[in-house]
Amino acid sequence: MFLQKSNVLNIKSLKTNSDKFLKIYRWNPYFQNKPWFAIYPFELRSCGPMVLDALIQIKNTQDTTLAFRRSCREGICGSCAMNIDGVNALACLQSLKTTKKYVTIYPLPHMYVVKDLIPDLTNFYSQYKSIKPWLNNDVVLKKEQLQSKNDRLKLDGLYECILCACCSSSCPSYWWNHDKYLGPAILLQAYRWIIDSRDYKTKQRLEFLNHKMRLFRCHTIMNCSKVCPKGLNPGKAISLIKYKLLNL
Ligand code: SF4
Ligand code: F3S
Ligand code: FES
Repeated sequence: MFLQKSNVLNIKSLKTNSDKFLKIYRWNPYFQNKPWFAIYPFELRSCGPMVLDALIQIKNTQDTTLAFRRSCREGICGSCAMNIDGVNALACLQSLKTTKKYVTIYPLPHMYVVKDLIPDLTNFYSQYKSIKPWLNNDVVLKKEQLQSKNDRLKLDGLYECILCACCSSSCPSYWWNHDKYLGPAILLQAYRWIIDSRDYKTKQRLEFLNHKMRLFRCHTIMNCSKVCPKGLNPGKAISLIKYKLLNL
């Protein structure tokens, strides 16, 4: 059973034994209508413990047209990022026990929507490509390029980023300038390559970022660091890039 927009107001009088309801943003590009909400009842004891489990159960048993991304179901692939009860999160890491009776789910905010909970990440990935996310040097290496333990430790807190876009889509600066400002996820990734001792293009990387829109649209709002489901600190990485620019 799924309830469309017209039923939203009557949901409390619904005769059901369900413990919880998912209220989900829906939009289908092949329909001419505006986005709507669908409300799905479900029982906690009949599905796994996470929001993603509930979504999968609803898709399997109630409404096969519901669209969302997922793959690893353990916080590694970053594909199940969505806005759950007002906070960007990974559905596979968000426990149903910590959510309200009525769980409201939107796609990541301020992104174009492909369908239902699936955001269009084309711009996000082209921005990722723009920072050249690979070891970049002109030297032909004749042997393995080793890294000291200390240099390797500098990558901690950076390499764990799974590019879920929770941080960028929680940043007001990115909401308003997503076509020009690189946003916290991509800047954290940029710093990951700047700080890598095996990369010889640090100066060029910093020169690329030294731009009033690409980097300096960050106003230290810090939503990004608060929301990161992997516990990373993109706001700090951005500050460290700015600090490095002082010595450019
Ligand atoms: Fe996701 Fe955190 Fe990486 Fe941002 S920094 S993309 S929130 S893992
Ligand atoms: Fe945005 Fe984070 Fe900067 S929320 S403004 S990128 S500190
Ligand atoms: Fe991979 Fe959630 S399904 S992070």
